[in-house]
Amino acid sequence: MAANERNARITGLGMYVPPKVMTNQDFEKLVDTSDEWIVQMTGMKERHYIGEGEATSDLASRAADEALERAGVAPEDVQMILVATATPDMLFPSTACLTQTKIGAKNAFAFDICAGCSGFVYGTVIASQFIRAGTVDTALVIGAESLTRFTNMTDRGTCVLFGDAAGAAVFQACEPERGLVDHYIQSDGKLGDLLMCPAGGSKKPASHETVDANEHTIHMIGNKVYVNAVRMMSDSVVKVLDQQGLSGDDLDILFPHQANIRIITSVAERAGLPMDKVYVNIHKYGNTSAASIPLAMYEALEDGSLKEGMLAGTVAFGAGFTWGSTLMRW
Ligand code: ACO
Repeated sequence: MAANERNARITGLGMYVPPKVMTNQDFEKLVDTSDEWIVQMTGMKERHYIGEGEATSDLASRAADEALERAGVAPEDVQMILVATATPDMLFPSTACLTQTKIGAKNAFAFDICAGCSGFVYGTVIASQFIRAGTVDTALVIGAESLTRFTNMTDRGTCVLFGDAAGAAVFQACEPERGLVDHYIQSDGKLGDLLMCPAGGSKKPASHETVDANEHTIHMIGNKVYVNAVRMMSDSVVKVLDQQGLSGDDLDILFPHQANIRIITSVAERAGLPMDKVYVNIHKYGNTSAASIPLAMYEALEDGSLKEGMLAGTVAFGAGFTWGSTLMRW
């Protein structure tokens, strides 16, 4: 296929969640909260926690192994690996390089994308552009997070929200009628302070003081993030459909980032989508950041909600702020 005649599509999906489960009842013993509050305000019931000695690249490589197997692609045939994560194994080397070694993808180039919860949407766009340009035939995009390593377990406003997971997708060149139809991605650093991990970087290196002040954990002004998430996510869905002259009626299924069931229902309403077209699995995993969309796609494919020929959308919003959406002909 000549470069200008081809598109990029997902040919295999994989997911991994660590076995340890934290229920709402477990949090009732840790902070002043209740199962009723968490379910009503977030839609979450359980989330998975990374194990002792495990790292983000361990989750990423397990999801990647499965995605490659399902796509029928050998690790040495992968040319590009993107790991979308805000919770890397370490500052450097990248989690993508560490994952590359674990899965044996010795012929790939690899790098991380730090776009918070929007990382998988960004990764989809970047990988697809490399494939469309003819530079790469096979790419692996992985959303992998261990947010519970950076959670203040005494802060009820954040500790109940996050879970650990990885979701992986193999992207390959395909005929122009399938795969990525369109995308819309944006960032705005102005409001970045509303959602951040303040210390551990060059601005505020780790010290006894930063540890004592809990500055290596997620700091979030939840209600302000919420308002922005609803606005940016619904605008993104409308925008990407509009770019194609389409409306909510034309979309068969939407995979929104799973941050809060109330955000998801508001986005659906504002984008003119009935909830039966919107995939939700937040009750099982909580907010897994960059992993949540591939996790949802994986489960939708397994349970038959995602079928060949469907027009599928993704939409996310995360730290940065970053946001965006994609349309894919499945
Ligand atoms: N249990 C009980 N009460 C709680 C809890 C809890 N777990 N958490 C907060 N509250 C209380 C607050 O203390 C506050 O009490 P007060 O009125 O006595 O002060 C009250 O609930 C209301 O707090 P708000 O923060 O205003 O509640 P809100 O309706 O905004 O819901 C929530 C909080 C669920 C965190 C919501 O703001 C949210 O989901 N925000 C978005 C999070 C998100 O989308 N993050 C996305 C990106 S994450 C990433 O990129 C890594």
